[in-house]
Amino acid sequence: MTTVAQILKHKGTRVLTIAPQASVREALERLAEHDIGALVVVDGDGRPVGIFSERDYARRGILAGRRSETTAVAALMTPDPVSVTVETELEACMRLMTERRLRHLPVRGEDGALAGLVSIGDVVKTLLDEFAAHVRSLEDYISGRG
Ligand SMILES: NC(=O)c1ccc[n+]([C@@H]2O[C@H](COP(=O)([O-])OP(=O)(O)OC[C@H]3O[C@@H](n4cnc5c(N)ncnc54)[C@H](O)[C@@H]3O)[C@@H](O)[C@H]2O)c1
Repeated sequence: MTTVAQILKHKGTRVLTIAPQASVREALERLAEHDIGALVVVDGDGRPVGIFSERDYARRGILAGRRSETTAVAALMTPDPVSVTVETELEACMRLMTERRLRHLPVRGEDGALAGLVSIGDVVKTLLDEFAAHVRSLEDYISGRG
């Protein structure tokens, strides 16, 4: 079965992060600069303490009337992020994302530090590629090419 390790092999292990005390404005600029939907919020030791997403900003920021310049990321982030490891299978990621309504899962290493991040787009793309390869090999088999 395909695991998170396969995604990280292609996309790399870099994770875009922000400190809890940074302003929401700074976080939004970072999201726009990198064209992504979420940042992992890390403490001084680099350990994940939350996720700050566009959804957090929409619901707890703008709709709650908070100013992005004077509000800290910690006030809007979703705390205690659900994480996976490099060994987690993609089906398990999909289940977590669907049941817990998550779009981004930080990957934790053996020491609990951040080892990557997978998004719902990463998981869907990898599974689609896998299904397409499977269909091609079945078609080859049926037509006698395999
Ligand atoms: N063609 C591809 O390879 C590919 C991969 C992923 C997403 N997408 C598409 O992009 C759109 C949005 O994607 P999404 O909803 O999955 O989320 P997204 O826009 O937040 O993520 C886009 C990419 O950036 C990466 N990313 C996001 N936040 C990150 C962070 N903090 N640190 C490091 N990497 C981070 C994701 O892992 C993903 O590879 C969707 O339409 C999706 O289908 C395409």
